[in-house]
Amino acid sequence: MKILSCYLNSIASKCIFLAAIALFIRAIFLATFSSSFGASSEENDAVFIHNRSLSLSNESPIRNDKFLEVPQIVWGLNNQKIAFARSCLTARFLNRTLLMPSLSASLFYKEIDLLEPISFDKVFKFDSFNSICNGFVQLGKYSDLMNRTEVFEMPKGSGRRWTKERDLDQLEQHKKDPIDEHQVIRIVGKNPFLWHDHWPVKDYAKVFECLVLVDEIMAEADKVVSRIKEIGAEESFKLESGKNSLNPNTFPYIAVHMRVEKDWMIHCKNLERKLNITQICGSKKEIMERGGNIVGLEKQSPTVVYLAVADKLLEDSSILSGWKENLIPFEKKKLGVDGVYKKYPYLIQSAIDYEVCLRADVFVGNSFSTFSSLLVLDRTQKMLRLGFTSFCEAKDVTWPSYAYNVLGESKGPKKWMTNMSDSSLRAVSYGSKDISC
Ligand SMILES: *[C@@H]1O[C@H](CO)[C@@H](O)[C@H](O)[C@H]1NC(C)=O
Ligand SMILES: *[C@@H]1O[C@H](CO)[C@@H](O)[C@H](O)[C@H]1NC(C)=O
Ligand SMILES: *[C@@H]1O[C@H](CO)[C@@H](O)[C@H](O)[C@H]1NC(C)=O
Ligand SMILES: *[C@@H]1O[C@H](CO)[C@@H](O)[C@H](O)[C@H]1NC(C)=O
Ligand SMILES: *[C@@H]1O[C@H](CO)[C@@H](O)[C@H](O)[C@H]1NC(C)=O
Repeated sequence: MKILSCYLNSIASKCIFLAAIALFIRAIFLATFSSSFGASSEENDAVFIHNRSLSLSNESPIRNDKFLEVPQIVWGLNNQKIAFARSCLTARFLNRTLLMPSLSASLFYKEIDLLEPISFDKVFKFDSFNSICNGFVQLGKYSDLMNRTEVFEMPKGSGRRWTKERDLDQLEQHKKDPIDEHQVIRIVGKNPFLWHDHWPVKDYAKVFECLVLVDEIMAEADKVVSRIKEIGAEESFKLESGKNSLNPNTFPYIAVHMRVEKDWMIHCKNLERKLNITQICGSKKEIMERGGNIVGLEKQSPTVVYLAVADKLLEDSSILSGWKENLIPFEKKKLGVDGVYKKYPYLIQSAIDYEVCLRADVFVGNSFSTFSSLLVLDRTQKMLRLGFTSFCEAKDVTWPSYAYNVLGESKGPKKWMTNMSDSSLRAVSYGSKDISC
């Protein structure tokens, strides 16, 4: 009806002219957005979520009648992911199916009785894991066991004399009869995160790719991401004097994993002293300044910055001020999504945050944080899958990541990409300032 009245009206030409201008501006606006951030994130998400097939079909099958059992997996989400992957790779080494381990919902790692075991399949999809990882590693259920009495216990050694070589030697021994005859080998002792590591980064990355969040948790992450994009659209309307009908799905956002909690600060200051370097902690001020200097960001105005911070910090409103004016910071509370998180224990909250940061158009984190490091590994995989081979030299890449604790070009944070040919995950699990760009 509006269009019709336009024609009937004496100011018909004006009407059409205005409409044309609006469309034109919208086109320019969207083009600016998508070109500087690469393809739209929606498109890339589709590639990412639906094209994970690892082309492992030529691998020989893992035995499904021999099993490996590991201790409950503990600590932070990403330490748990590494521990889980290490368990999978150990099982693969022994050509055994890994019995689905328990993760831990809470972070109280000092009090064993507060660890709140949570089954792996309450967080990640069991069937998806096995189908994506088919031929590489396999998960089994305790109900697959025919005879629970045939368990061989394998104690992991500890102390300085328990070297990587001895550990590997032990694994070799357990590959052979008579031990291999046992239906189940149960590893007792240390949490798998602390085991010696024998596998390259590529193998870990393969296991991580098979981890798909269960629908319920994924839906919560979708909610948070939609809210961030909605806010981005709203802020742009305000700035661009109320042009509407822009699709919120196309709004890019930056995620910043800020590690500025008190316990982290104590830990990282000690580490800086021990390693005699000053590039570990990163202050609030540094994060804000460097974050504002990311090359290419000046083209966006404004851009929503999602601050992934620990719950304890939500009361600290100072993290919301001090950003460059084209960056509009939000944390869970200001976004109005803290309710989404509060329903869940620590592990799930962290998994949601991980997913939100993973899907961000730009990610900025700390290269000494396991959370940040695994995100960058995941994002590097996404980048490689889209055909970008090197972010270090290239200007416009999709899924760029940065480390705020290391100074990069133009006073910004340093570009950060995981070196997939690294021979061990050490850099990822213990942190490094030598990030590969
Ligand atoms: C998925 O990846 C494979 C191998 O990398 C590629 O050949 C295929 O075209 C991709 N499929 C889609 C839908 O992108
Ligand atoms: C594992 O065992 C199966 C069945 O015996 C065999 O076909 C496969 O080659 C073995 N895989 C490895 C990596 O040794
Ligand atoms: C379970 O294993 C034990 C020891 O190998 C054996 O004696 C027993 O018969 C087995 N039971 C079943 C139901 O297979
Ligand atoms: C720490 O590093 C600085 C500069 O890199 C160097 O001058 C100093 O000698 C180092 N101190 C120790 C105790 O290694
Ligand atoms: C990546 O790691 C490999 C193996 O450790 C090393 O040879 C190579 O130089 C590294 N590449 C970069 C860019 O750091």
